[in-house]
Amino acid sequence: MRAKKITKAIIPAAGLGTRFLPATKASPKEMLPLFDKPLIQYVIEEAAAAGIRQVIVITGRGKRAIEDHFDVSFELEEFLKQNGKKEELKSLRKISDLAEFCYIRQKEPRGLGHAILCARHLIDDDPFAVLLADEIIDHPVPALQQMVDVYHERQAPVIGVQHVAKTDVKQYGIIDGKPLSDSLYRIYDLVEKPAPNEAPSDMAVVGRYILTSEIFHYLENTKPGKNNEIQLTDALQEFAHAKEMYGLILSGRRFDAGDKLGFLKATVEMGLKSPEVSKEFRAFLKGHSL
Ligand code: UTP
Repeated sequence: MRAKKITKAIIPAAGLGTRFLPATKASPKEMLPLFDKPLIQYVIEEAAAAGIRQVIVITGRGKRAIEDHFDVSFELEEFLKQNGKKEELKSLRKISDLAEFCYIRQKEPRGLGHAILCARHLIDDDPFAVLLADEIIDHPVPALQQMVDVYHERQAPVIGVQHVAKTDVKQYGIIDGKPLSDSLYRIYDLVEKPAPNEAPSDMAVVGRYILTSEIFHYLENTKPGKNNEIQLTDALQEFAHAKEMYGLILSGRRFDAGDKLGFLKATVEMGLKSPEVSKEFRAFLKGHSL
């Protein structure tokens, strides 16, 4: 039987963004501009390029700017039209046309697992993607597309992973699995933020997931874990113990843009790649080489 097409994605965006305070005190972390677009637009463009048609954003207090960004801005469009700013108008239209958007409020930030559970009624029995807006993965083949191909082949959940330095495993969910090829692993276990000497591998979960609706049963039965939050990793761990699940090593350069240093690195990368500013930016950076 052919697996159902993946057309729905959940973007959890209700977290407090404490690593980026004070910038995130009154503005959503997901709206931090990376060069000329907010972080969340990068991941929604990635999702749309992989066939996603319905985007469910989990929001919370102080996150209204996200809804405004993906809505049609009538006054702004009229202004651009009347002033002959065709390119700007085109780029605005593209944003609201990316997908059909739904917003769900997570009343309290009770963890990533809980945020996903909030969208259960919109998922029904469909397979779906989860993308974290602060993980930017840059590659000509969008990261989610790489995973969709594997999902169709295996017809089971696929988690995006990448190798990380041994000293960094304590910042991630780490998988334990058996290699099936250079880039594909059957996952048997997952551990959240292990100490380097206890990590089962150096393969970290990097904010891209393709899941089936069966995960809701596991999330529902997950007790609050670290920080009293319902952790997605805990539900995935139970799932992996009982069912088939795969880890795909994603091609592409990844930036943890929810962290100040990661965000700076991503900004430099996007600036260097931009035809608009790269020449002058490169010259500017050369003047700063140590
Ligand atoms: P993070 O832990 O990276 O985000 O969660 P955070 O809590 O916003 O940031 P820090 O760690 O305090 O700096 C990963 C993603 O899950 C969402 C966040 O918005 C982020 O995109 N999230 C997290 C929720 O939607 N709800 C939650 O309860 C927790």
